[in-house]
Amino acid sequence: MSTSGSDFIVVANRLPVDLERMEDGTQRWKHSPGGLVTALEPFLRSRSGAWVGWPGIADAEVEAFEEEGLRLHPVGLSAAEVRDYYEGFSNGTLWPLYHDVVAPPVFDRSWWESYVKVNRRFADACASIAAKGATVWVQDYQLQLVPQLLREQRPDLRIGFFLHIPFPPVELFMQLPWRTEIIRGLLGADLVGFHRPGGAQNFLWLARRLVGLEPSRGAVGVRTRPGVVQVGDRTVRVGAFPISIDAAGLDAIARSRETQARAKQIREELGNPKRIMLGVDRLDYTKGIDVRLHALHELLAEERITAEDTVMVQLATPSRERVEHYKQMRGEIEQVVGRINGEFARVGHPAVHYLHQSVDRRELCAFMSAADVMVVTPVRDGMNLVCKEYVACRYDLGGALVLSEFAGAASELTSAFLVNPHDLDGVKNSLYAALTVDPAEGRRRMRALRRQVLTHDVDRWARSFLEALGSASPN
Ligand code: ADP
Ligand code: G6P
Repeated sequence: MSTSGSDFIVVANRLPVDLERMEDGTQRWKHSPGGLVTALEPFLRSRSGAWVGWPGIADAEVEAFEEEGLRLHPVGLSAAEVRDYYEGFSNGTLWPLYHDVVAPPVFDRSWWESYVKVNRRFADACASIAAKGATVWVQDYQLQLVPQLLREQRPDLRIGFFLHIPFPPVELFMQLPWRTEIIRGLLGADLVGFHRPGGAQNFLWLARRLVGLEPSRGAVGVRTRPGVVQVGDRTVRVGAFPISIDAAGLDAIARSRETQARAKQIREELGNPKRIMLGVDRLDYTKGIDVRLHALHELLAEERITAEDTVMVQLATPSRERVEHYKQMRGEIEQVVGRINGEFARVGHPAVHYLHQSVDRRELCAFMSAADVMVVTPVRDGMNLVCKEYVACRYDLGGALVLSEFAGAASELTSAFLVNPHDLDGVKNSLYAALTVDPAEGRRRMRALRRQVLTHDVDRWARSFLEALGSASPN
């Protein structure tokens, strides 16, 4: 056991930076994709903790290193483990299962074996660097066995777990052949956190049904009234902690002269259309990118809008490109973009600008500042940070947010134009309503949205989780 290691450790599948191998054989680090890193990185930097995670490519041999006050501890994965643990069990089994089986999950025993083996490696890495009595905060669906595996080696640690994606209805979870092992793995934590009370409630039900425990029966609140379950002589708490963003940081970037100048330039580059619609997502089949494209297509075909007046920009970060569902969806989306542009674009004036790329934070802020309507239409999303980022950027109270009821954020952002992504007519009507909203009504909505987002930022999320874990930062 280490006695002089780190006092506060985050462990996640990915490090906040990804190693990239260039064609000339050199390597460089780049920012990792996704909401988990966006949310946790600013918080952890302010707390100077350690981060244990995979450097993003197979067979990378990297020593622990320091980056701007953060100690990064790489955990290596072989090519077979990337295939079986990451692309396989994490993203071919758990991801679709936990997102309401939007795509069929694959149950493969060799993937499960790899998941167990890799979870053990992450647990070992934490055990070897944690100081006595340290707090270890385990993140997300890729590492659900780590709490228990770590506790077996290091009962002195305080262990928290947070799930960044939805926790599914029990009927769906029960499909998983390794359902009991997963619940037992999570019960190794002192505090298990979900975005929504419903997830916590489902977990408590499963602890009773699958492990035979006697959890509390009262309703779990948001940041309050956690459920409680006794596991031997330990008490495990189970709560809801909706994640958020560095709202003040984005607000400040959006207000800067450079961002506003760039936003104006983006409008000009798009041909100064009357209205700009924006989508920003990892290219993932849960995000409902197809839903908004179909809605746009029909609005154009019905001449409720024209491509001269209204353009759409879709920024789509490449994601999990070797997983079959992702390959297929990319093809479908690119086909729809092609069809819309084929029918409605003019030379030099596409109706949809589709970028299969990631942009940096300042550029993202400029796009959000330029967009009249932000379109966020996932068929299921644990929280969704993009919608909160848009709100944080709109200090001018301009712009309108169209948001799926199936994003966790919908229960907080009730002044958005809420849509059911399965109801194409409803999506079209809400898009049209957002595009044509009366400015005073638009400002009223945006003011209410900003009140929520600016007072419930990522710092509050982390503090409320860590307070419930009993290890809030002393500063
Ligand atoms: P997920 O975690 O499933 O990817 P979230 O909406 O919670 O979804 O978080 C996504 C994060 O990734 C946000 O911070 C968003 O700004 C960022 N992001 C997504 N797509 C892009 C893109 N094309 N360029 C830059 N950032 C992006
Ligand atoms: C979501 C998940 C994260 C994941 C991110 C990016 O935010 O909750 O755990 O890191 O997507 O996905 P990737 O598979 O590229 O890490």
